[in-house]
Amino acid sequence: MTLTTRAVVASGGWPLVGHTLALLRRPLEFLASLPAQGDLVEIRVGLQRMWVVCCPDLTHRVLRDGRAFDKGGPFFDQMRIILGHGLGTCAHGPHQRQRRLLQPAFSRDRLAVYATEMSRQLDTVLGTWRDGQVIDVLAAMDEITTRVSARTLFTTHLSPQQSADLLHSLTALLEGAFLRMIMPTWLARAPLAVNRRFNRALSTADALTYGIINAYRHDGVDHGDLLSMMLAARDEHGDALTDTELRDQVFTFWLAGTETTASLLAWSLHLLGQHPQAARRVQTEVDGVLGGRVAGHDDVARLDYTTRVLTETLRLYPPGWLFTRVNTTEATLADRTLPAGTVLLYSPYLIHRRGDLYPDPDHFDPDRWLPDHTTTLPRGAVVPFGGGARRCIGDTFAMLEATLVLATITARWQLDPLPGAITRPRPRATLRPRPLHMRLRQR
Ligand code: HEM
Repeated sequence: MTLTTRAVVASGGWPLVGHTLALLRRPLEFLASLPAQGDLVEIRVGLQRMWVVCCPDLTHRVLRDGRAFDKGGPFFDQMRIILGHGLGTCAHGPHQRQRRLLQPAFSRDRLAVYATEMSRQLDTVLGTWRDGQVIDVLAAMDEITTRVSARTLFTTHLSPQQSADLLHSLTALLEGAFLRMIMPTWLARAPLAVNRRFNRALSTADALTYGIINAYRHDGVDHGDLLSMMLAARDEHGDALTDTELRDQVFTFWLAGTETTASLLAWSLHLLGQHPQAARRVQTEVDGVLGGRVAGHDDVARLDYTTRVLTETLRLYPPGWLFTRVNTTEATLADRTLPAGTVLLYSPYLIHRRGDLYPDPDHFDPDRWLPDHTTTLPRGAVVPFGGGARRCIGDTFAMLEATLVLATITARWQLDPLPGAITRPRPRATLRPRPLHMRLRQR
């Protein structure tokens, strides 16, 4: 693979539709094939031209300069229909103020409090598991992360039914967002089943969220969570966030924090099912550290191998696999001058599967992440949580939650793959393993 910086047009485009079919049918294979063609590769989705950054250096440049390469393009156009202009979707201008307002919710002290709630929710869900039972792993992980989001970030007001409705509608929104991102604009407005499902899900999630906000305003109690913090926040003019702004942030945190961590966990359980030796090493580690009890905040620092398993899972199956940006001024990348308004794509999946960065890139090897092995990786090579000012605000939260969940499950259960079952990545707004059923065996 060449190390020179080249800008080229991707091969295999069709008249009118460009690379749309490849993106719809086999997006991961298509993306992973692009670095062999150049460092900056032009693709066409319908009639729209976009540039995919295919090397770590350009990925780093795009992520580092959030003013020049701002949030925008088809992914964020769709996301803004759902999320409005919350922390993840707002433009560079208002971003710093929002981030400053919300960052304290992820301080070390707050994370220690969240960890207690994570362990409690985990214990409750695992208490319903039975020896020999076959579970839908993704649904089970969704249940855990939804409960954790509900209890730590927003609300004590949601009934289990409302919580399930919210999860269901947000999943439908994410599913619809990806399809609508690739569709021509006129199709996204047509009376199709996918659009009807999308609009219905948006109304349900809106009604539930405004319900939570009203309940908080009404009781006036500080629940010590993110929503209480946002309700109390005042900007430099002393103004509070409006209901719409609050709704955008609530949606943002639900969407960004629930399905992503559940996907990471489901993939890690799948990979451990496929790699019994690695599974045994996790068991040995958690048996030594936990001795059968639920993992807590202070255990995480001693769960080295478990953490490496999660890091390797994030490399192979990054839940956020594709994002778009738009450059706000003319920019030169890979010797190519791109006018303002050009759509750029970056993909953690594509970068993480580059063989020159990760030898035998499709192979699951948690020991790649031993400290002395990672020193040669260039900037922009490890991007499961993005980078720069728009790096995931929930990265430590997610790793904490995933480590507690994976360690506690492994301490108590062995999850066996079903003979002959095939699990494939299903790339939508997040990268999900489908289908994934496994049999529980009590340890
Ligand atoms: C394994 C789990 C997670 C993964 C892989 C993940 C990944 C990402 C990525 C790649 C971005 C950057 C997107 C871009 O560059 O356009 C991002 C942003 C974000 N994430 Fe996460 N995330 C995870 C968990 C969470 C959690 C648990 C929360 C909240 C509790 C969260 C909240 C956010 C928010 C609010 C942003 C926008 C940050 C900003 O623009 O300032 N994420 N995440």
